[in-house]
Amino acid sequence: MSDILTDVTDGVMTITFNRPDKKNSITAAMYAAMADALAQAKEQDAVRVVVFQGNETIFSAGNDIADFLEKPPSSQDAPVYRFLHGIAAFPKPIVAAVCGPAVGIGTTMLMHCDLVYAGDNAAFSLPFVNLGLCPEAASSLLVPQMLGYHRAAEALLLGEPFMAEAALEVGLVNRIVPPTEARNLAQAQARKLAAKPIRSLVETKRLMKKGQAQLVLQQMTEEGASFGRMLGEPAAREAFTAFMEKRRPDFSGT
Ligand code: COA
Repeated sequence: MSDILTDVTDGVMTITFNRPDKKNSITAAMYAAMADALAQAKEQDAVRVVVFQGNETIFSAGNDIADFLEKPPSSQDAPVYRFLHGIAAFPKPIVAAVCGPAVGIGTTMLMHCDLVYAGDNAAFSLPFVNLGLCPEAASSLLVPQMLGYHRAAEALLLGEPFMAEAALEVGLVNRIVPPTEARNLAQAQARKLAAKPIRSLVETKRLMKKGQAQLVLQQMTEEGASFGRMLGEPAAREAFTAFMEKRRPDFSGT
């Protein structure tokens, strides 16, 4: 079965991470599938709302580290950037159901969703520095805005995870429910949205986002250039190799 499942029912396109054996970590092929799904969802009248979900124990472990080691994204046309640009500029509402770990892009992509429902087991983390990298998805702009600078520094400089309650407090998630209920709640909210006039939804989202849409794009491009460069540098190579070898990284030589 595919690592990304898509389904369209009652005006809602549901995109499901389906790679549980690798904790729903995301390969280039998965980014490409999600970018293509978003492009279709944008064009098709049959799709009024998009839902992202994992399962009850894992949302996503972020970028697939082995895939990044072998095939680092080399340009802004790379599938990861196609996905990020697609989600950041997506005109229709996006809802997410998050249970379990949401690592790296598993958390940063939520900044581009409109409604986020979390299981009480949700754990968010932005370990870019610990991987010898820098933030992506405009998270270096959006996380400080959302969390405030000092909490953002804990999340982004120390890479400390934060749980569902903390995410609720800062407004990253709308509601916390038992993990068994998160996906049903996201679907129910998506269906409520899908029953509303689509032009009003799109225009309201555009107006809410327009203040910094350009800035988000610029930040994402600048982050992408740094991220791409840092992927080839010794700290990231050490962090990724250490993860694959199941040992602690040694940054003393970097
Ligand atoms: N890329 C590639 N493989 C990954 C992965 C990732 N980001 N995250 C997990 N996996 C793989 C593991 O290598 C392991 O594979 P194996 O069974 O072949 O050894 C499998 O998924 C299970 O992972 P494991 O770490 O044993 O699960 P866990 O429940 O103990 O921990 C996480 C789950 C998500 C907390 C942990 O896997 C993790 O921290 N992953 C890395 C997250 C990360 O740094 N992402 C990059 C962000 S840029």
